[in-house]
Order: sequence, then C-alpha cells, then structure tokens
Amino acid sequence: MDYEVLYDAIFHRRSVRKYDSAPLTDQAIAELHEFMQGVKPLVPGIKTEFKLLLPGDIKTNAPHAVCLYSEKKDGWRMNAGFMMEQVDLYLSADNIGACWLGMTKPDKGKVAPPAGMEWLATLCFGTPAQPMHREGTEQFNRKSLNEISNVTDLYHVLEAVRLAPSAMNKQPWFFSGSAEHVVISRKKSLMLDKLNQIDTGIALCCLMLALSHQGKDVKFSFGKQPVPEKQIFMAAAEITARA
Ligand SMILES: Cc1cc2nc3c(=O)[nH]c(=O)nc-3n(C[C@H](O)[C@H](O)[C@H](O)COP(=O)(O)O)c2cc1C
Repeated sequence: MDYEVLYDAIFHRRSVRKYDSAPLTDQAIAELHEFMQGVKPLVPGIKTEFKLLLPGDIKTNAPHAVCLYSEKKDGWRMNAGFMMEQVDLYLSADNIGACWLGMTKPDKGKVAPPAGMEWLATLCFGTPAQPMHREGTEQFNRKSLNEISNVTDLYHVLEAVRLAPSAMNKQPWFFSGSAEHVVISRKKSLMLDKLNQIDTGIALCCLMLALSHQGKDVKFSFGKQPVPEKQIFMAAAEITARA
C-alpha cells in the first residue's frame, strides 16, 4: 500500500470499540500479513515482530488483535508507535475497525514472546459495529496547531500530525526548531511516561506521511538536542525536497 492511502486515512480514522463478532476473511488477514511485512521502522537496528492473536489469547471484544514485540533498545517504544500506527492506518483505509490497547497484553501463558523480545503494543481489530470514519477534521477532539508547535512554516504539514491518536488522547508531542530541522519533544508525565513514548512514535509516523504527501523526504536522528522547558527530547527530523 502506498503512503498516500495511509496519509488520507489520518483524516478519517477513529478508534472503534464495538465489533461484529465474526472474524475477517482469510484473504483480509493474508493481506494484512503481507502489509505488516513491509512496515517501515523508525529506529534502525531494533528487532521487532508482529504477532496475530486468536480471540482466546487476549481480553478484547474484537475478533482479532495484533501485538508488536520488540528487542529492548534505545527508542524501542517510539519505534513501536511508529510501526503500529502504519497498521492502524492500513486497517482504517481498508474499512476494518481498530483500536490501540496500551495496557492489554496477551493472557499469561497463551502467547510466548519471540526470543529476546518483549511485548510493547496491542491493536485490536475487526468488522466495525459502529461508524468507523470521521467525515471531517472538525470531528476530531484535538489540540490546536499553536499548542503543539511554534514553527508556523510547518503548520500545513502538522495539520495531519495534530490528528494522530494517543493514549487517553493526551497528545504529548511538541514540534520546535525550523521547517527544515524539526525537533520533536514530549511533555513530562510520570503516569504516562511509557505510553507517551509510543504516542510520539505515532506522531512521527503521521509526520513522515504528511511530509511524503508534500513531496519531502525526512531523515530522523536521535542525538539529544535542546528542547523547550518542561519537555523531553525525542527525535530530530531533517527535511529535504525529494530528489
Ligand atoms: C498508545 C495508545 C494506547 C491506547 N490505549 C487504549 C485503551 O487501552 N483502551 C481504549 O479504549 N483506547 C485506547 N487508546 C485509544 C485512545 O483513547 C484514542 O486514540 C484517543 O482517545 C483519540 O481518539 P481517536 O483514536 O478516536 O481519534 C489508546 C491509544 C493509544 C495511541
């Protein structure tokens, strides 16, 4: 699936919490499987694995769930958010309802983590039994652009990023720097520290898709850079016109 399809999905997706109990077709699952094999990572060199679960493996009212397991390395949570959001947008574009489950691991003893990896994220999914698409951006309950960035030259790109989903809809991200060199940070939070790292990866996925839509390339780096007060540095993005 190309990035434009995922980009368009940003403007219509919503979390689905009511599902038809019937499973998806084998073909839909096979296509999802194929998509997941091509998901782009954010941080190179972190081993990850998606696992599709069966209904009895995890507590959810959806007929399916996918978990992301990862090697524990710097940036692993942010990387997981970046990767799983591609799956979330793929499902939305394919008219399959989905919802992130930040705390729901597979039931003990049901699914063994791959060797050397730990569970990081779950997305449940299935045929929706409720409306699954928003009609316009006014239906999103989100912060305004000036609450998430002081780089006005980047607002046309950040309009998509602003709509990204986050745990408890906290939207912890902030974008500073310049339109060519963006610094991404997040608000300090003791309670949501781990989930906010995943959230930031989700926002970076939307940033990459929005830049791609504008004909730009982005290179992320993770060496510490100055950030606004009360923020935690997460990543920097070097933006260039696509060659
Ligand atoms: C990392 C993460 C964890 C989440 N965990 C849960 C959860 O456990 N249960 C739930 O109902 N929704 C969960 N959500 C969904 C958010 O509540 C939802 O994305 C947010 O309120 C924005 O709404 P929207 O997705 O409909 O745009 C989670 C979202 C993220 C990104």
